[in-house]
Amino acid sequence: MAKYRIGWMPGDGVGVDVMDATRIVLDKLGFDAEYVHGDIGWEFWQKEANPLPDRTIEMLNNVDASLFGAITSLPKEEAEAALVPELRGTGKVYRSPIVRLRQEFNLRTNLRPCKAYPGNPLNFRDGLDLVVFRQNTEGLYMGVEYHPLPQDVRDKLIETHPSQMATLDGTANEDIAISTRIFTRKGCQQIVRDGFEYARKFGYKSVTIVEKPNVVRETSGLMVREARKIAEEYPGIELWETNIDAMCMWLVKNPQDYGVLVSSNMFGDIVSDLCAQLVGGLGFACSGNIGDKVAVFEPSHGSAPKYVGMNKVNPIAMILSAKMMLDHLGEADMAERLENAVAAVIAAGEVRTYDMGGSSTTT
Ligand code: IPM
Ligand code: MG
Repeated sequence: MAKYRIGWMPGDGVGVDVMDATRIVLDKLGFDAEYVHGDIGWEFWQKEANPLPDRTIEMLNNVDASLFGAITSLPKEEAEAALVPELRGTGKVYRSPIVRLRQEFNLRTNLRPCKAYPGNPLNFRDGLDLVVFRQNTEGLYMGVEYHPLPQDVRDKLIETHPSQMATLDGTANEDIAISTRIFTRKGCQQIVRDGFEYARKFGYKSVTIVEKPNVVRETSGLMVREARKIAEEYPGIELWETNIDAMCMWLVKNPQDYGVLVSSNMFGDIVSDLCAQLVGGLGFACSGNIGDKVAVFEPSHGSAPKYVGMNKVNPIAMILSAKMMLDHLGEADMAERLENAVAAVIAAGEVRTYDMGGSSTTT
């Protein structure tokens, strides 16, 4: 019997290419695993009106960790039109399977390391080593939204926020959409603690909370207040608080000043793309969605429909995601060998995909 059971979910488009490439590397490494395929993505939306079938959920409960490639998602109307005829008009609504996975398994931590490997011509600056901790289940991604605004919700809001709601007088419910941003104390505490633990383990000197408490007082405020309490338990590590807008500016100006960043779901989504671009772009952006029982590792890039079937995109983000999985499984030695190999290939500069100015294939 293999040492590990690994969920294998290539998904759509170039997800398949980068997963195939990663498999070659894992096999070479001698990683002792049985790979269990999981159906996920657009094909299953079209055929079953469910891009994350129950059998895949079941599978994820029975593996040690999983790798996920990419998925295609389209806005509501286009998604509906893509269904097989008999499922059209049945009220099925497309929901991103990766967002659902995160929620379903409480994969509360999204870990996104962004390291500038020496010799990468795409590095914005040498020596960068940023790590984003993104709260992965709450906030704007909870999907608690209204359109049109129900009258009873409106009445309650008028009661609690009379002056703010007065600006909507004369606007019909039909013309109002609301997306809620829900934070919990526990959610904030966990992501902040994850950030500090990581900083301590790997010797980062600061943890920066990236929020906007001067405007979004209650949710960002909760995160910052919890961070201040937790920071006291980590005397050697500085707590910095930077607003999301200013953070984008500072990351372009002085990215080398930062180490671990902690943010909520949507701000973390945004700032992690910025960090990724500082170290070469989405072709290098690996990530882990980590919960107490289940963990899914994926590149941050999408399915890149225009490159489908071309064996063209950079597999490094996926390979580094596999490296994160090895770390998660406690295979530190293999993880290190894999990362060293990636670093050596980047430094040598002979094998380069199109994003790095080369013409090598994904394989
Ligand atoms: C990411 C992606 C996803 C997100 C999309 C594909 C739903 O942008 O993992 O960062 O918004 O979380
Ligand atoms: Mg994103």
